[in-house]
Amino acid sequence: MFQHTNHEVYVITARSGDRIAGQVTTWTLPASLVPEATRVVVVLSPLNFTHTLIRETGRFVLHLLAEDQLEWLRVFGLSSSQDVDKFAGIPLGQTRSGLPVLPGTCGWMELRIVDRLDSGDRIIYLCDALEIGQEPLRRPLQLKDAFAHLPPEVVAAFQEKKARDGARDRAWLKDFGTPKPLRSNVG
Ligand SMILES: Cc1cc2nc3c(=O)[nH]c(=O)nc-3n(C[C@H](O)[C@H](O)[C@H](O)COP(=O)(O)O)c2cc1C
Repeated sequence: MFQHTNHEVYVITARSGDRIAGQVTTWTLPASLVPEATRVVVVLSPLNFTHTLIRETGRFVLHLLAEDQLEWLRVFGLSSSQDVDKFAGIPLGQTRSGLPVLPGTCGWMELRIVDRLDSGDRIIYLCDALEIGQEPLRRPLQLKDAFAHLPPEVVAAFQEKKARDGARDRAWLKDFGTPKPLRSNVG
């Protein structure tokens, strides 16, 4: 079913002390209709280096990539910030609190984690926006269009990494057993 979706592509950046990191995410959703509450759900692998910095600070910046930022899918999605400087040559801005901001995106938010569900291979974070950076109107980058424009060897490298990460994550997947009854806010 999910092969029929066409996710927008986001990059998350984080800073802890003098270390910075960044990674691609696609499992990202708005999570409230209340106008004054910008609330977002992000699903992250605890094995990513970016997550290490997020865990230390409870904060990160979510950027929606623009159509012409295809190259950052490879930079931020294929290797680890622990091994390479993903920010080399990028003129970074920063949020009021000093987190790294990528230029030329469709917009960004500095998020603060308010709660989480640890599902083992992923942590599902509920976050509130602390600062929102508006950018001039640009078309967002979407995954299927990105893959259609990337060289075949890069697409193959993504497929190999996805298969490797999926096999790695099998051991981490948490079994929750029988779920507790759900609380109801109506009736
Ligand atoms: C298209 C695409 C979507 C991705 N979506 C997510 C995601 O939603 N959550 C996540 O934790 N990792 C996701 N990743 C994986 C990370 O971006 C990737 O493992 C990255 O290299 C981690 O970098 P780091 O170790 O510097 O944090 C995605 C990767 C790609 C290529």
